[in-house]
Amino acid sequence: MERTFILLKPDCVQRRLMGQVIARFEQKGLNVIALKMLTITPDLAKQHYAEHVQKGWYPTLETFITGGPVVAAVIEGLEVIRVVREMLGATNGLNAAPGTIRGDYSSSRQMNLVHGSDGPEAAAREIAIYFTPAEICDYTPTITPWMRASDET
Ligand code: CDP
Ligand code: MG
Repeated sequence: MERTFILLKPDCVQRRLMGQVIARFEQKGLNVIALKMLTITPDLAKQHYAEHVQKGWYPTLETFITGGPVVAAVIEGLEVIRVVREMLGATNGLNAAPGTIRGDYSSSRQMNLVHGSDGPEAAAREIAIYFTPAEICDYTPTITPWMRASDET
C-alpha cells in the first residue's frame, strides 16, 4: 500500500471546492488517513517547493500559496502517487484534460487547486513536512472487501 501527500491550495478553499475534491478521492476508493487545515508561512513554502525556489515565477507562487488557508492530507491506496497525479491532470488548468480535477475546475497555470506528490521520495519528504507519525491514522475501511479483490495488493 502506497501513500501520497496532497494539498488543497488556497484557491480550492476560497472557491469552496474542498468537499468536491476530497469526494473524488473517496469515490475512487482511496483512503484519507490524515487531514489538517493550516496557513503556510513563507518558510514552509520554501521548504515544500524547494525545487522551485530559484525559478523566476517562485515569488508569485509563494504569495499565492501563503495567501489563505490550505488543507493538507495523506491519502493511501494502491499506486496512489501515480493515480492521484493522473486525477489532478496537467499542471496548467488550460491544458489539463476534461475529467481531471484541474481540467474540470481550473483555468490557470498557478491556481490549479491541488498539489500531489510526484514520486515516492517527494511523498515521503512532503508527508514528513506536514505531519508527525502520530497524526497519521492507520486504518482499514470496512468496505475494503467490496473495493477490490483480495489478491490485488
Ligand atoms: O504541481 P505540479 O507538479 O503539476 O507542477 P510544478 O511544475 O511542480 O509546479 C508547482 C506549482 O507551481 C504548480 O502546481 C503551480 O501552482 C505553480 N506554478 C506557477 O505558479 N507558475 C509556473 N510557471 C509553473 C508552476
Ligand atoms: Mg511538481
